[in-house]
Amino acid sequence: MKNKKMMILAGAVLAVLFIGGAFALGRSKSNNTGDIKTESSAKEQTVTVGILQFVSHPSLDKIRQGIEDGLAESGYQKGKNLKVEFQNGQGDQSKLQTMSEQLVNKKADIFVGIATPAVQALANATSDTPIVLGAIADPVGQGFVDSLKKPGGMMTGVSNTVPIDQQMVLAKELLPDAKKMAILYASSEDNVKPQVAEAQKQAKKQGFTTQKFAVPSSNEITQTIDVMDDIDFIYIPNDNVIANAMSTVVNTADKKEIPIIPSVDAMVEQGGIATVGIDQHELGVQTGKMTADILNGADPATTPVFVYKKGTTYVNKKQAEKYNINLPEEIEEKAEFLGED
Ligand code: TRP
Repeated sequence: MKNKKMMILAGAVLAVLFIGGAFALGRSKSNNTGDIKTESSAKEQTVTVGILQFVSHPSLDKIRQGIEDGLAESGYQKGKNLKVEFQNGQGDQSKLQTMSEQLVNKKADIFVGIATPAVQALANATSDTPIVLGAIADPVGQGFVDSLKKPGGMMTGVSNTVPIDQQMVLAKELLPDAKKMAILYASSEDNVKPQVAEAQKQAKKQGFTTQKFAVPSSNEITQTIDVMDDIDFIYIPNDNVIANAMSTVVNTADKKEIPIIPSVDAMVEQGGIATVGIDQHELGVQTGKMTADILNGADPATTPVFVYKKGTTYVNKKQAEKYNINLPEEIEEKAEFLGED
């Protein structure tokens, strides 16, 4: 009798240990960078990931490469257990819609939208397949998720909300005599409106006055910069249209000798002076990892949107020299230098 009781007790203890262990294995864990990692492993059978990219510009191309690298790091390799269906909308909204429908017809297990218009198009085409946000500036404002912590639906992913406050502090440090800042953006870009408002607010804190220059399309960029008067520097938010025409922006601004403080590393590389930003490839890697997590069973509704808390300082030394900008030692030490040749 006593023995039997002991055995039942031992059995119960074992069962608890076993169930507890199983839970621990399947659970999502956060490490100190907020990086989400699940310990469940990649599927063996081939999964199909449908990726829709809004347009080709250096940032989005880096994000796209990062997504595949992140998937591979998580055990999903092209040609092995991963099939990627990729479409690029070339900046055309109507193309994005058709492409989304095509991707839905391919029966992808999961979608990834790179840039806001791509996610919008995917969301219009499906409501029952998860969509991973690939570097979306304002997921809540766009209505993609209920909140960053609890997305609540079929979408979660990576936000690339940029640290505009830090960018304005940097602008002040590098251009201490600057008074007036131009904000150059495209009126068609939904995702930049909150950034423009934030840039105005943060510029004011640093003592800059601001003037907005919204272009209807990239065709008007040259003439818009040409008429800029009394502008000490140009700020460019996370704008896909401008990013796609960055070389025109740099050429025109250089002719007028107006330095540019952009919001992304890739724009610094192309001729901006400096920024505090997030590595675009890394944004993609994180997006790819989250895609893998959801493929492995994580629920998008309860998987928080990944937000970067800290940016890296990027400087284009050649441009800084061209504009006779002295780099304070503290920036020189922490900065990553881009656009060396
Ligand atoms: N955040 C942009 C969006 O939501 C996409 C984006 C990511 C982007 N990286 C960028 C745009 C760099 C311009 C430059 O649409």
